[in-house]
Amino acid sequence: MDVVVVYESKTGTTRRAALAMGDEFFTRGVRCRTYPAKGVDPAAIAAADLVILGSWVDGLFAVGQRPGGRRNLERALGLMGGTDGTTLRGKRVAVYCTYAVAPGRTLSKMEALATDLGAEVVGGLAIRRDRISEGAATFVEAVADLSTV
Ligand SMILES: Cc1cc2nc3c(=O)[nH]c(=O)nc-3n(C[C@H](O)[C@H](O)[C@H](O)COP(=O)(O)O)c2cc1C
Repeated sequence: MDVVVVYESKTGTTRRAALAMGDEFFTRGVRCRTYPAKGVDPAAIAAADLVILGSWVDGLFAVGQRPGGRRNLERALGLMGGTDGTTLRGKRVAVYCTYAVAPGRTLSKMEALATDLGAEVVGGLAIRRDRISEGAATFVEAVADLSTV
């Protein structure tokens, strides 16, 4: 399995989660590369068996939560900027977000973004920002299990 993590991070927490996931995959002998949304390599996505999308929760804490920097993720995946938005077509995709208090519907909004691009969503997890390493381990374990089904 070849895994690519594409993350959008404002203050580094979601990036930290992406790197922790990379470590988890590495210990399982799975090749995993991580990219910030603005520096993604389309060829890496094209070659990936599993794409993981990560973002932070932006909102008013109790209401209006959504994926932070969503436009950067959309651009990275080719939804914006004039291409046909097929980067994820047929791909297995898992999503995660990091949050402080309550993620609201951020995860399902990320799932919808992936589904709209033709992806098959195989997992998702909201990770509280004070539990990044535990969350990353749980997430990778769940995705690894799903990938063997
Ligand atoms: C402008 C802004 C709005 C935020 N809104 C929410 C929110 O509505 N709910 C929540 O649980 N956390 C919220 N947070 C906290 C972040 O989602 C959380 O700290 C996240 O882990 C940050 O990830 P990052 O370091 O990768 O940017 C907000 C943070 C910022 C900067």
